[in-house]
Amino acid sequence: MPLTRSLDESTVVITGASSGIGAATAYALARRGAAVVLAARSEPALRQVARRCRELGGRALVVPTDVTELESVRRLADQAAAEFGRIDAWVNNAAVSAVGLFDEIPVAEFRRVLEVNLLGAVHGIKAALPYLGAAGGGVLVNNASVLAEVAMPYQSAYNATKHGIRGLADTVRQELRVTGRGHISVCTVLPATIDTPFFRHTGNHSGRELVPPPPIYPPEVVAETIVRLLRRPRREAYAGARPG
Ligand SMILES: NC(=O)c1ccc[n+]([C@@H]2O[C@H](COP(=O)([O-])OP(=O)(O)OC[C@H]3O[C@@H](n4cnc5c(N)ncnc54)[C@H](OP(=O)(O)O)[C@@H]3O)[C@@H](O)[C@H]2O)c1
Repeated sequence: MPLTRSLDESTVVITGASSGIGAATAYALARRGAAVVLAARSEPALRQVARRCRELGGRALVVPTDVTELESVRRLADQAAAEFGRIDAWVNNAAVSAVGLFDEIPVAEFRRVLEVNLLGAVHGIKAALPYLGAAGGGVLVNNASVLAEVAMPYQSAYNATKHGIRGLADTVRQELRVTGRGHISVCTVLPATIDTPFFRHTGNHSGRELVPPPPIYPPEVVAETIVRLLRRPRREAYAGARPG
């Protein structure tokens, strides 16, 4: 089921909103008059994104959040609903990576990638579902990657989390349907390589410079895909080229 209200009446929570695809999604929604709730760890960066959202015609709330902590994510949901009255959609978008041969990535760093990308999405879904139900329905979008479909060497931790997000989304969707909550849609977006600071934020154990694999698409391509999913939910949507 799509959003129960038009975008200019909707409240959308976005994790990883301080940068890249999350910020671009916030701008795309703000342009359509939505209320956006911006979550990430860096408050100054979130404040800049919020300022731009308001210039574009949206309403914006900044909630500094660490998605690895369930309580932090629950607080995000509570503050979003307290400020705007309800939550209509939730975008799990925060992620990190660690590049290198599997043998070279320390377990602590592997764990960090799992905690941010996969457990962060688990926390987001846990926090969002009660509010989406209370709103009479809504849309949950998980930003995965084409690396949820194919594996890429030197990206074992990231690949594992993105495959995991796809399986998690499919399972939650099935469970919502069989428990009478089919009015909450669960969508997975599978972007190709996107031009964001992601590769500069990535832990690099490869001993080489990281060069994102072409073709490279602007973050607005993913943002517009997410907007389309909110209006017309589908199980999955590619953003940029599909894996060959
Ligand atoms: N760029 C690509 O080529 C590409 C391709 C496919 C999929 N994706 C996916 O797109 C999503 C966004 O990535 P991006 O390219 O826009 O990268 P990005 O610019 O590095 O953004 C990552 C975001 O995640 C946030 N974040 C990291 N750790 C966090 C934590 N513990 N708690 C809360 N927020 C946290 C960061 O903010 P703070 O540091 O302020 O917390 C930042 O806002 C990710 O899920 C990524 O896997 C990217």
